[in-house]
Amino acid sequence: MCGIVGYVGRRDAIPVLLEGLRSLEYRGYDSAGLAVIYRNRLQVTKTAGRVQDLRAKVNDRIKANIGIGHTRWATHGEPNDINAHPHTDTAARIAVVHNGIIENAEQLRAGLAKRGVTLVSDTDTEALAHLIAAEFAHDEQASLEDAVRRALRHVEGTYGLLVLDLQHPGELVVARNGSPIVLGIGQSEMFVASDVAALVRYTKQVVYLDDAEVATVHATDYHTAGLDDSVRHTGGSSKEPTTVEAEAGDYELGAYEDFMRKEIHEQPEALRRALRGRLDDRFATAKLGGIDLDARQLRGIRQVKFLGCGSAYYAGQMGAVLVEELARIPSDAEPASEFRYRNPVVDPDTLYVAVSQSGETLDTLMAVQELRRKGGQVIGTVNVVGSAIGRECGHGVFLHAGPEIAVASTKALTNMEATFAMLALLLGRVRDMSTATGQRIVAGLRAMPDHLEAILAAEEQIAETARRFAGADHMFFIGRVRGWPVAREGAQKLKEISYVHAEAYQASELKHGPLALINQSMPSVIIVPADELLTKNISTIEQIKARGGPVIAVTNADLPADLADAVITVPRGEPELDPLLFNVPLQLFAYHTAAKLGRDIDKPRNLAKSVTVE
Ligand code: F6R
Repeated sequence: MCGIVGYVGRRDAIPVLLEGLRSLEYRGYDSAGLAVIYRNRLQVTKTAGRVQDLRAKVNDRIKANIGIGHTRWATHGEPNDINAHPHTDTAARIAVVHNGIIENAEQLRAGLAKRGVTLVSDTDTEALAHLIAAEFAHDEQASLEDAVRRALRHVEGTYGLLVLDLQHPGELVVARNGSPIVLGIGQSEMFVASDVAALVRYTKQVVYLDDAEVATVHATDYHTAGLDDSVRHTGGSSKEPTTVEAEAGDYELGAYEDFMRKEIHEQPEALRRALRGRLDDRFATAKLGGIDLDARQLRGIRQVKFLGCGSAYYAGQMGAVLVEELARIPSDAEPASEFRYRNPVVDPDTLYVAVSQSGETLDTLMAVQELRRKGGQVIGTVNVVGSAIGRECGHGVFLHAGPEIAVASTKALTNMEATFAMLALLLGRVRDMSTATGQRIVAGLRAMPDHLEAILAAEEQIAETARRFAGADHMFFIGRVRGWPVAREGAQKLKEISYVHAEAYQASELKHGPLALINQSMPSVIIVPADELLTKNISTIEQIKARGGPVIAVTNADLPADLADAVITVPRGEPELDPLLFNVPLQLFAYHTAAKLGRDIDKPRNLAKSVTVE
């Protein structure tokens, strides 16, 4: 959501901050700002709008070696210049940027107002700057870290917080509770960010802060400590850096016009990465080292439950179908956002699978924490290494999709499905799945990247179909069994980036109500795999056609000529793995519909990548 950047070192800080903010813009934003120390004063520049507006507003003559910056996605207070971060205390000594939500902000603001402090913005964040300044009023000799630590004792809520203090001009202090913070360790320079995207062009050595941790960062050293530690660590580095896999180029568009299309086209390669070293031909199974359960423990699992939000939930639904089919273990998926609020019965013999691209989605993180509190067995399937959900789960499987920038999830989702297919294979092979079936699935998975390439090669035909139907105000997406979560995800992609109203329905449910909506202006996208349900799906198409509804069939079957108004062809693979393939043309369909309608595809309205708020 919001983005944080900080720098201390020998470089000119402002270009580093602006560049970092630019690379975080994809997370969603409505305003931006930065603060540096220049000629013994805090220089704050902020504006509603984009990073390029901030760049235009910054005074070129200011040169600084330390600073903090922020892109905001408004929660408290409308997006305008005043509410943009950084926020300062009254004396303009302390500047803070903050991600997350301070839940007792109203109370804190009222308390400050009572003590005569004038608050200039409507934000929850401004209170933090005043609280930190107040700690220095009590104890002039306090270190910045201690002042931050003490101020945070009054705060309830979530934060990734970065603080700059005029009186400590060579240091930055960060704290984390629920919103990511990563330190970038350079040669005599240090970076701070809410996402490695902002620092990977400068350094690959990073330190991820955990919740309830604080760090003090100087150009040549840093240290981390617990927020509640009564004695602060002095000097040295308490947490060792790790090396990030990502390259700066992963965050650049290259020859593409937007990240969504780039990421759709990266899928064959991303999928090869997810499968590499994980398929075992000898025993016709999968090797998922991160799961950390032996054959006996795997056999003891009586149910598998997938938990994720949005597209990650639909991917989980595809995973549940795979686990039931291949391993014959009861399985289902539930939105993590519902699970966490409904006081779930946690069963010790159920394997819970937390699904998240970002690894930061608050609802999913909370569901994991609830599970762990109740003694549930939970593994993570996340894309971002070092993210909160991955660390909270402790073990699991990384998706290896590479950085996903576009708000609409594509390559991470494909790798989620491939990962669930491998999990289903592993669970099946410790039960009743034969070697022959195991070999068939292993071979089917290996063939997937080539099949994806074939789909991408047919992009223009899919684009033509999308453009033909782009005038529709509403669309149905219809599937059954394996095709049902595919239909749901197809509808989700279309609505989020094109704003066309799309609704998914099980084919079998149409006659129980929604058929009433079918007419010439309601096209239906129907998932028609060449499997044992083919004739059922053909009769669904006929029912729709009989009521004048246009049909777009997405299929790997040889359908009767003229049955559908348009056909999107998918290569034929192993039937159980069909969802993985059928999903990709729907991404392209949504993409080209949105392109035809002139949408800002990477940044759909009202949405942000990684939802770290309630
Ligand atoms: C849809 C989309 C969202 C995310 C959801 C979960 O294209 O991107 O629905 O899938 O917000 O995000 P993660 O996977 O980061 O937990």
